[in-house]
Amino acid sequence: MTIDGPAGAGKSTVARQLAVRLGYLYLDTGALYRAVAWKVRSVGMSPEDEKSIAAMLPSMQVSMDQRSDGVHVAVDGRDVTNDLRTPEISAMASQVSAFPAVREWLLPVQRRVGEAGGVVAEGRDLGTRVFPSAEAKFFLDADVNTRAGRRQQDLTGAERSAPLERTKQEIEARDQRDRSRAIAPLVPAVDAEVIDSSALTVEQVVDRMMGKIAAKL
Ligand code: DC
Repeated sequence: MTIDGPAGAGKSTVARQLAVRLGYLYLDTGALYRAVAWKVRSVGMSPEDEKSIAAMLPSMQVSMDQRSDGVHVAVDGRDVTNDLRTPEISAMASQVSAFPAVREWLLPVQRRVGEAGGVVAEGRDLGTRVFPSAEAKFFLDADVNTRAGRRQQDLTGAERSAPLERTKQEIEARDQRDRSRAIAPLVPAVDAEVIDSSALTVEQVVDRMMGKIAAKL
């Protein structure tokens, strides 16, 4: 099962609930791009330095571990879960995700998690590239004001009181980059069900997806 879509469309909340309802594993692929961004920052590289980033990847280790309080992400054995959701890492993840070497490197990492089936995977290119033969594909979208408001709620501490307009600008810049990059851009798969969540509750979205899935299985 794949759920693709832009930032703030509600993918994570919906994917987690869908995974619980189906008894499936939840795979947050954005966290993997964020982990690469975290590593790039921790070694002091520029997120624009494609060559150095590509050279660094083979020595990097990333792992995801499902625990009772959620999925934990480790980079080179260190738990970085709580450092991945900042606006800085969001922007850097979007930058490094445009590099072919980064996408190639993460491809087998994602497929390994999905190979046994029973996974709800969320990201940008899961239905188009990572899992093209998924049993059901969704593309979750929402208007930019709704998405900025939701993203604001995800932020913590001082970041949460950032002006909504700034969050909106950050989201628009990131979407623009994710949609226009040369490889694996953010687009719905031809066989994906597109859902606009602007006026829907989480439960309504999940119910709609469950309906589609039930019709397919
Ligand atoms: O879903 P997210 O906000 O955690 O993703 C962070 C960035 O990672 C996003 O701006 C683009 C990139 N990404 C991607 O290119 N492909 C994916 N499958 C998931 C995320």
